[in-house]
Amino acid sequence: MQITSAIRRSLSVALLSSIAVAATAQNLQLNGIAATPPMGWNSWNHFFQKVTDADVRAAADVMVKNGMRDAGYTYVNIDDSWEGERNAEGFIQSNSKFPDMKALADYVHSKGLKIGIYSSPGSRTCAKYPGSLGHEMQDAKTYAAWGIDFLKYDLCSYGDILKAEGHGDVAAAFPLQKEAYKRMHDALAATGRPIVYSLCQYGMNSVWEWGPEVGGNLWRTTGDIKDTYERMSLIGFSQAGLAKYAGPGHWNDPDMLEVGNGGMSSEEYLTHMSLWVILAAPLLAGNDLSKMTPETLSILENRDAIAIDQDVLGKQGDRLSAVGTLEIWTKPMSHGEMAVALFNRGELSQPMTVDLKQLGFGDSARLRDVWAAKSVDVAGGVYTATVPKHGVVLLRITK
Ligand code: GLA
Repeated sequence: MQITSAIRRSLSVALLSSIAVAATAQNLQLNGIAATPPMGWNSWNHFFQKVTDADVRAAADVMVKNGMRDAGYTYVNIDDSWEGERNAEGFIQSNSKFPDMKALADYVHSKGLKIGIYSSPGSRTCAKYPGSLGHEMQDAKTYAAWGIDFLKYDLCSYGDILKAEGHGDVAAAFPLQKEAYKRMHDALAATGRPIVYSLCQYGMNSVWEWGPEVGGNLWRTTGDIKDTYERMSLIGFSQAGLAKYAGPGHWNDPDMLEVGNGGMSSEEYLTHMSLWVILAAPLLAGNDLSKMTPETLSILENRDAIAIDQDVLGKQGDRLSAVGTLEIWTKPMSHGEMAVALFNRGELSQPMTVDLKQLGFGDSARLRDVWAAKSVDVAGGVYTATVPKHGVVLLRITK
């Protein structure tokens, strides 16, 4: 049965309002933060365990100078490897790479940015530093005292506990996992400081179905990304069908960006960024910001791409069609706008056509090619573009 675009739109508005009501009833993350997908930088994808206080300060400095802060990149997130030993009272301390966490947070704040940190519900993080097990309240208090604004909470060694509890099956110990994530949420909430809560357990137990209940503002939906087209596209395109679980305050997270890390071609990085913005994914740059090329910066800072990701409607996009290696994905936006991405996952350039009527747009629709940064002509309600191998044409359609 064909439904008209007007009906489809009012249905989606009705659906949105009912989701909003349901969300109020059942979600814990009512802290009013992450109304749009969090944006910023994270140390892991480039620095891994080598990250230092100086690297974090440098990232903050660069984000101010190169316009990233003003483009919306707000969080400067330290990933794993900052942790030192606990003191006699059990409070966590930073290690020698981070001599004074409070001073670092103050510095980042002085730049008009926010700062994030990382821990695990287990006794050890993935890189074997101390985790928060048994110290959740103390750690939350410490983070708040330092002035932390974002916590990534990574399952890591807690998986061993779940495995033991579930007699070899991590997923079977699901209630315990859920409790562990809720425990840290409650500890963070008790501090009274708004701290974005990022769940990282690689998408197990369909986390998108219960992430909001344990207070998650975002949750990783997959295992780790790598700086390769194969891994990035496997993760990105596997997000089809998850759109309904995302919305203001609670987002699906297909992992941090690899744009600029050197393992993909320009076209492939455009695909990466386009797919992430269509997915309303958190945009956490993962490259060395102080050594970035103008091309990398132009991808990260593209205002249209960011506007698609950050649209206030907060609707994640989804796959509209897949014919062989050619996929069209759409994302509804506010004011009746729509983002459309034509992805060519194949090995040869291909023409791809988008039918504007099928998307609910009339003859007067206007099209902007985001990466070409120009308006394009529509003839007879259809638009055809040549899409390079592993590449994308990203469009904004307005009525
Ligand atoms: C896991 C996470 C990564 C990163 C590392 C740090 O692999 O998925 O994103 O945080 O741990 O050890």
